[in-house]
Amino acid sequence: MTLAIVYSRASAGMNAPLVVVEVHLSRGMPGLNIVGLPEAAVKESKDRVRSALLNTCFEFPRWRITINLAPADLPKEGGRFDLPIALGILAASGQLSDEKLKEYEFVGELALSGDLRSVRGVLPIVLAAQQAGRTLIVPEANSGEAALVRQAQVLSATHLLDVCAHLKGETSLKICQLNLEQRVGSTGPDLIDVCGQPHARRALEIAAAGKHSLLFVGSPGTGKTMLASRLPGILPPLTDEQSLDVAALASISRNGFDIRQWQCVPFRAPHHSSSGVALVGGGRPPQPGEISLAHQGILFLDELPEFNRHVLECLREPLESGSITISRAAWQTVFPAEFQLIAAMNPCPCGFLGSSGRACRCSTIQVQRYLAKLSGPLLDRIDMQVEVPALPLELLSTQSNEKNESSAIVKERVLRARQRQLDRQGKLNRELQVSDLEQFCVLTDDVQKILNKIIDKLNLSARVYHRIVKVARTIADLMGQEMIDATHIAEALNCRALDRTRSLI
Ligand SMILES: Nc1ncnc2c1ncn2[C@@H]1O[C@H](COP(=O)(O)OP(=O)(O)O)[C@@H](O)[C@H]1O
Ligand SMILES: [Mg+2]
Ligand SMILES: [Zn+2]
Repeated sequence: MTLAIVYSRASAGMNAPLVVVEVHLSRGMPGLNIVGLPEAAVKESKDRVRSALLNTCFEFPRWRITINLAPADLPKEGGRFDLPIALGILAASGQLSDEKLKEYEFVGELALSGDLRSVRGVLPIVLAAQQAGRTLIVPEANSGEAALVRQAQVLSATHLLDVCAHLKGETSLKICQLNLEQRVGSTGPDLIDVCGQPHARRALEIAAAGKHSLLFVGSPGTGKTMLASRLPGILPPLTDEQSLDVAALASISRNGFDIRQWQCVPFRAPHHSSSGVALVGGGRPPQPGEISLAHQGILFLDELPEFNRHVLECLREPLESGSITISRAAWQTVFPAEFQLIAAMNPCPCGFLGSSGRACRCSTIQVQRYLAKLSGPLLDRIDMQVEVPALPLELLSTQSNEKNESSAIVKERVLRARQRQLDRQGKLNRELQVSDLEQFCVLTDDVQKILNKIIDKLNLSARVYHRIVKVARTIADLMGQEMIDATHIAEALNCRALDRTRSLI
């Protein structure tokens, strides 16, 4: 036996394509050569595998060893091929029978001692191995993540010798067990802490109910960040399917997946100095950006006008399509990015335009320039823009939070409104297509007339018109009403603060 074949998997976006590790021993100068587009970390595999084999009392064959990672045109990164390479060498040199190898797939980085270290992106590998009908062997450190795919056959090992013993039939490796005890469960801060601000609280509830995007406009310290961070607490927990998508994205990201976050609604708040790549994804190999890490959850952009304009423009595509395509010369990667956008901004550069507390020092031109940092097309894609006024100081200091509604109560209303939407149309109101509106958002003639008049007066686009109707639909759903009436439309219009400002300047 001088040729052995072992199965492993590479990482390509959300996929984990099969990699066949071929190990061939031949006469000639002893040495080890890896071919098949390996990146630096894979090339270093040679040294790790050699040490691991020698330190676990195997023999490192004094032959010429060629290792081919096929297909050759697929880029391969990381130390994940160490384990399959080591097993291939053992099989090719007759130190391990290759009888059982074909039933398995392997990933794992080797320490010089032969211990197995965790690898990134295990979740997509588990899903792919399951589809291929093979049992996967992963490092113990990845077992929690691997167990999330309940139907998959995954075993975990701590050391190279354990894997060999299992393949020889001497001992059995552990089946990965799901352990959700460490889960956080709670969804962060509670709305009970927010005093006053009935208008902003209501907007948050509407946004939660219909999955609408929302922009808070207000002076510093009025509670915009406070409100936004309480949105996850009034949303339903993720379904298993959604959680698996979220976990898979985290799994291939730089920080990896944390089992404690299982089923938690993602809340991502990138800083305004974030680069385009950090926000929308990219790099080599392509990594998901903040918008994909916010998939099925919330993307919070604080100080919206401070973001690079070009970076903001990149949000338009995913806001419409729910995914982002990253193009490289040779290949394309698509990451899901179905996030709910929540943003916050000051009304002017100094922050106090329209504030009763302090006078604004900005000129009209300065205010215009500030607002112009947000392009019209981006603003058009934000369903609601709501002013958050400064709270009178007395209210803040004297009012105890007993009078405030808690997140649990608001969440009940949100869940009921969401159920109405799903029963009626099978999706949330934000997701309604223009062609759906005729069927699900019927307006009486009177209401239609009023709306047309206002749209005309404020010179709003058709896109904005559709958004207003969808938000009105959600308001009616929150009130448990099937027909959209004038009060619903009026409240939806009231949630377009910037359109009014923009039409004035
Ligand atoms: N409505 C409110 N109820 C209770 N505390 C508030 C409220 N608004 C502001 N605060 C207090 O002010 C602090 C600053 O609020 P923050 O959300 O950071 O303001 P902004 O993001 O608008 O600048 C909060 O941490 C909170 O202590
Ligand atoms: Mg803030
Ligand atoms: Zn100002």
